[in-house]
Amino acid sequence: MGQNTSVLFVCLGNICRSPTAEAVFLAKAARAGLKLDVGSAGTHGYHIGKQPDKRSQAVGVERGYSFKGLKCRRVDDKDFEKYDYILAMDNSNLDNLREMSPPEHHEKIHLFLDFANSEDKEVPDPYYGGKRGFELVLDLIEEASDGLIAHIQQS
Ligand code: 4NP
Repeated sequence: MGQNTSVLFVCLGNICRSPTAEAVFLAKAARAGLKLDVGSAGTHGYHIGKQPDKRSQAVGVERGYSFKGLKCRRVDDKDFEKYDYILAMDNSNLDNLREMSPPEHHEKIHLFLDFANSEDKEVPDPYYGGKRGFELVLDLIEEASDGLIAHIQQS
């Protein structure tokens, strides 16, 4: 059930939220026995080729997640063909993705937190804030990852 599903996480810079989502979701999917194709990308290209932000890595590693091999890239046209789920961290990412995507792929694009139980609908950009913001990002991503795994298992 749900094997071979592909998921792309998208934020603005692809150095804080979406690589964190990739790392968390990969770990949780593996624990659930799912083999999925998981990636992340940014709508903008400020940091192409860079590793995830050190602050994201620090809070993620504290909770046992691995960021090895992750490298920043920008969303490209092939992503809209390739991925089954394209998940935006906030409404601005969602709007940008809808503008970039051919209309026939719009149905693949959702807010990631649509899969969480939380009242929050956006994963807030932590880039200009402190450690607490990065921990909140991780809390929201962990919850939405559990919801997305349950959704994929049922589909
Ligand atoms: P992200 O965070 O979208 O979660 O990767 C940001 C990273 C970089 C910038 C903004 C947000 N920036 O302005 O460079």
